[in-house]
Amino acid sequence: MSFKIFRNFSEVATLAGAHHKDGRRLNHDDLGLIKNAAIIFDSEKILWVGEDKNIPVDFLEKDFIEIDMSGKVCVPEVVDSHTHLVFGGDRAHEYAMRMNGASYEEIAASGGGILNSMQGTQALTRSDLLRLATARAKAIKAYGVGTIEVKSGYGLTFEKEYEISHIIHDLKNVLRPDIQIINTFMAAHAVPKKFSSSYEYMKDVVLPLLDKLGEEKILDCVDIFHEQNYFSDEDVIALFERAQRHNIPLKMHADEFNDNKGAILATKFDALSADHLLATTQDGLWALANSKTVATLLPGTGLFLGKPQANARAMLDAGVKVAIASDFNPGSCHCDNLIMIASIAAPLYKMNQVELWCAITLNAANALGLRSQGAIVEGLKPRFTFFQAPSLDHVTYSWGKNHAIN
Ligand code: NIG
Ligand code: FE
Repeated sequence: MSFKIFRNFSEVATLAGAHHKDGRRLNHDDLGLIKNAAIIFDSEKILWVGEDKNIPVDFLEKDFIEIDMSGKVCVPEVVDSHTHLVFGGDRAHEYAMRMNGASYEEIAASGGGILNSMQGTQALTRSDLLRLATARAKAIKAYGVGTIEVKSGYGLTFEKEYEISHIIHDLKNVLRPDIQIINTFMAAHAVPKKFSSSYEYMKDVVLPLLDKLGEEKILDCVDIFHEQNYFSDEDVIALFERAQRHNIPLKMHADEFNDNKGAILATKFDALSADHLLATTQDGLWALANSKTVATLLPGTGLFLGKPQANARAMLDAGVKVAIASDFNPGSCHCDNLIMIASIAAPLYKMNQVELWCAITLNAANALGLRSQGAIVEGLKPRFTFFQAPSLDHVTYSWGKNHAIN
């Protein structure tokens, strides 16, 4: 059996302690930093990690490929667990409107927002949308992100949402093995004007389409925007129960603008993640802490919209499993640089260094149901991110500078 040895990394952050603690209540040692490190792996799994000088001799006696990684840093593969990157048009003028005093909700109520992107998306063909999505995924990957979750949700008709879920499926095939794509169905993103209620739209479009795509077995997750003027408790329950029939894992946009008790609802269904959580209060926080549901925080969105941020420190202290993602989309966060977003968020959230790295590796992978990656420990998948940097500290230090090696 042939295997590879990466030798002489300046530093490897294994996150072994974080993996052992399931990504909760982390302290500095859980980063598992090894200087002058080596990693040995085959195509399926990691076989050994440690100081280069301690490589077991039996490995060196076999057939292997050796690669010198001097001057490079390695972390578990960085994962962007929340993006909406299939869309047409742009909403640059909405950002300017917000600078000039309008709120996201006001812009949406006056015909902007998600429904504006629906028009831009409806105007493009399947091949145009695939081309744009491919370029956007590659741009995210360029910062060192190896797994990207992609949500549908700007088509908002049966036909266009069907097409978009298939575009994401095509994207998965086009980008494999360089990028691992997770296909999330989010037709329940906004209610198009021609429907009198979210219930009507769920009944006529979302649920029948979920049945069709569920039978085609191309979906990895479902998601829904649980928010006033978008989708209700009843809509969430209808979607989640239907998804469970198809054995599709659940995710939810929860408590983004108001404390709708969305985090609590997500945990009742054992959702993989509840995302946003800007307005979640104590009861939601405890529900998350006592569940397997990952709290996916999207600091770029709070910054982009000029909203108060999620109470990350309280979540971390309560033992919530916290991930950070970009939320890359045309309206509420048009930023595709996850490492920069996380670097800015950590001091804002008062996260320590291991909490930051765990949030974009292990916990982000777990937020997508990926349990066999996210740490550099024996037996897990050999999915890594490399940076050209003298130390891990340098990667988050230079905001916006791309250190990733592709
Ligand atoms: O995650 N909150 C709902 N969906 C997106 C925003 C989409 C948009 O404004 O286009 C989000 O922030
Ligand atoms: Fe989102």
